[in-house]
Amino acid sequence: MIVGVPKETFPGEQRVALIPQNISNLTKTGFEVLVESKAGGSSGFSDSEYTDKGAKITGNRKELFSKADVILQVRGFGTNPDKGKSDLVLMKAGQIVVGLHEPLAAIDAIKILANRKVTAFAMELIPRITRAQSMDVLSSMATIAGYKSVMIAAESLPKMFPMLMTAAGTTAPAQVFVVGAGVAGLQAIATAKRLGSVVKAYDVRPAVKEQIESLGAKFVELPVDAKESEDSGGYAIEMDESFYKRQREMMTKIVEESDVVITTAMIPGKKAPVLIAAGMVKKMHHGSIIVDLAAESGGNCELTKSGKTVVTTGVTIIGPVNIASTIPYHASQMYSKNITTFLLHIIKEGKLSDDADDEILTNTMVTKDGTIVNKLVKELAGA
Ligand code: NAI
Repeated sequence: MIVGVPKETFPGEQRVALIPQNISNLTKTGFEVLVESKAGGSSGFSDSEYTDKGAKITGNRKELFSKADVILQVRGFGTNPDKGKSDLVLMKAGQIVVGLHEPLAAIDAIKILANRKVTAFAMELIPRITRAQSMDVLSSMATIAGYKSVMIAAESLPKMFPMLMTAAGTTAPAQVFVVGAGVAGLQAIATAKRLGSVVKAYDVRPAVKEQIESLGAKFVELPVDAKESEDSGGYAIEMDESFYKRQREMMTKIVEESDVVITTAMIPGKKAPVLIAAGMVKKMHHGSIIVDLAAESGGNCELTKSGKTVVTTGVTIIGPVNIASTIPYHASQMYSKNITTFLLHIIKEGKLSDDADDEILTNTMVTKDGTIVNKLVKELAGA
């Protein structure tokens, strides 16, 4: 089987789906790898590094799509509907297309992929189970986003993070408050601690208290009843508005006292809850920073503008998007490891698995033979 790696075309996307280090994992099991010239250029991997590891390079995207049995992308058509359109005509019936497709939101794109008769796999749908951890791109990318959120805050904050005792006086450590301690939040906590700040964190799921404390941060206990806040899969469930109102009231003082607030609170498949109201921002002191990692799903701060920086009453509210792509080397390294492991799991000896009991396969496969095959996506598509 030939695995094709096209250059990403989404504006500003710097990642690549497969890095040279993972080529041997594929070639030693019988795959051939064909990479579009300069595909790894913006993430730090040259064409010659790919050829040194045994890949072939082509400057012709059309040739890549026509030769490849499997296409590996970061942004599949669902997450790149404008620029990705021109690839649709290049796709062949039966071609396996693996990437991020936003299958629960970009339903129209999924229908189009089904019409193209490709077998599309959405990496977002990797189940959160132990044996799939090494394929879990959401966790990998959230790790990067959590780290980078602290870098962004440190860059904008008119203060240093650590306490320093110098001949010119003592500087107080920055006070950082992280809201939401999932994968991104825990990485933000660890990074902010490493920079020397004092870190507090809150999550609606009480189970994370221990994880927050193991990173040396203080778990903020809020007197809100969060007992029913977690589903059986460990995800937060949507609470009612009166819960969020109470949460906002309880968090006002701690937000007010923070130099940096990093928000990561999300509910899978739903708009992010608003946890920092405009009035709370007004109470923060001049120079404080909010980095809202939930910006793309509506924002945890009422004043967040996705992809923009807003300054109001002296407080800077940053709503970064596609954050993993801003650290493209390591984001590509992690994504490549995830997608390689996934590919080797679903294709053995040149044959796509048809194991109906394998939830890694059945969760992620969204289209096959002209139809939408994933149960959830099918329901959403009304098919
Ligand atoms: P996420 O990105 O869906 O949400 C981020 C965090 O926001 C979560 O911790 C959530 O509880 C929190 N949150 C939601 N509403 C909130 C509110 N009102 N106030 C404060 N915090 C709020 O979460 P992520 O990072 O995807 O993790 C979700 C779960 O999945 C966790 O239990 C995690 O341990 C688990 N997980 C399991 C994996 C595996 O077994 N392979 C891999 C990665 C995560």
